[in-house]
Amino acid sequence: MPVVTVRPSSHLAHAIMPTQTSPAALLAEARTHADWITGIRRTLHEYPELGYEEKRTSEVIRARLDELGIPYRWPVAETGIVATIGRGEGPCVALRADIDALPIEEEADVPFRSRTPGKMHACGHDCHTAMLLGAAKMLKAREDELPGVVKLLFQPAEEGGAGGKRMCEEGALQTPRVERVFGLHVWPQLKTGTIGSRAGVFLASAGSLNITVRGQGGHAAKPNTTIDPVVTAAKIIVELQTIVSREVDPLEPAVISVTTVRAGHAYNVIPAEVQLTGTIRSLTMPGMQFLQGRVRELVELVAKANRCTAEVSFPGNDYPPTVNDAYCWEVAQGLGRATLGDAAVLELPPTMGGEDFAYYTNVVPGCFVALGIGNEALGAVYGVHHPKFKVDEAALPIGSALHTAFALHSLDELQTSPA
Ligand code: NI
Repeated sequence: MPVVTVRPSSHLAHAIMPTQTSPAALLAEARTHADWITGIRRTLHEYPELGYEEKRTSEVIRARLDELGIPYRWPVAETGIVATIGRGEGPCVALRADIDALPIEEEADVPFRSRTPGKMHACGHDCHTAMLLGAAKMLKAREDELPGVVKLLFQPAEEGGAGGKRMCEEGALQTPRVERVFGLHVWPQLKTGTIGSRAGVFLASAGSLNITVRGQGGHAAKPNTTIDPVVTAAKIIVELQTIVSREVDPLEPAVISVTTVRAGHAYNVIPAEVQLTGTIRSLTMPGMQFLQGRVRELVELVAKANRCTAEVSFPGNDYPPTVNDAYCWEVAQGLGRATLGDAAVLELPPTMGGEDFAYYTNVVPGCFVALGIGNEALGAVYGVHHPKFKVDEAALPIGSALHTAFALHSLDELQTSPA
């Protein structure tokens, strides 16, 4: 993999311009804002809000942008915000943070634990938002020297609501037209001070699955007078396992997981209906479509063979795979090494997690980068979506510095050699 050298653009070469601040100096600068960034993160952490309900979160972000004198468009996609820094001419680069939380009861041992029962920032989107505001502060300080525009995308509803899709539909990547986009995601499997990603497919296409199996309820002592949807649902769950294991190329990653089973209320009554939900993953859209087609066929036919009927639906949005532009990953690697050292940048395998950053990279070249937040000494060892998920906050200024470096470097580069 070729290394990108971080070079000042030719038009700025004669003067010491703030856009030329070295990545290491940006990190030192970001660390002077660590308390401010961490404070925002903790405020957001205490009041988590689910997708498209991020009213308070959106208010906190807008208050900070107002404080910094950064103009923005709002509402975009209900609660989202598109802020701009820089001149109206020249290239445009976007940095994205998602802002929503998850329906999880927090069990993390932190003094700023969620104050909202049943909701938690268990995917670190509070960190993403705070880090992007940190970058906003640093970029605003050098606004006069920016050779273009940086757009800050504060996006709602990443967790299943396809907020990224809505942002794109509502023009977040237009006027001015975004030429490159970067996103960071906290990554507990990586130690603080490291980053990782890859060229090409990084995250999977992800979709939801609903199945309703209908039979005929009755006394459990007389199963012959019923049409039992419970046994049929059990067969369906087992049958679904053979799509991936028998029909998909073993070298092509695919997942079908049934995650909830709901039926019945009494120990001696056979219910009339069973509800199943689950998730389907593939690294390609054709792969996703194949899995969905076979799930539908198999569920309907197994139900029929057992005298039941079944309804299959794929609710919500099927997130496309997140595909990184190879050159943008080279840029991120070069800047990551310059910021954190040569050993700090890791090439990661693709993961079956889904991410709606995919909607942006479907339209413009970009890179989604995993930011290490793992730290055993602090108990930051749990995966995202875990009730004990915890973040090493020392990573927050690193994220702000990287966002800033991605934007400054890309603007300089695009200004010198327009896309
Ligand atoms: Ni997330």
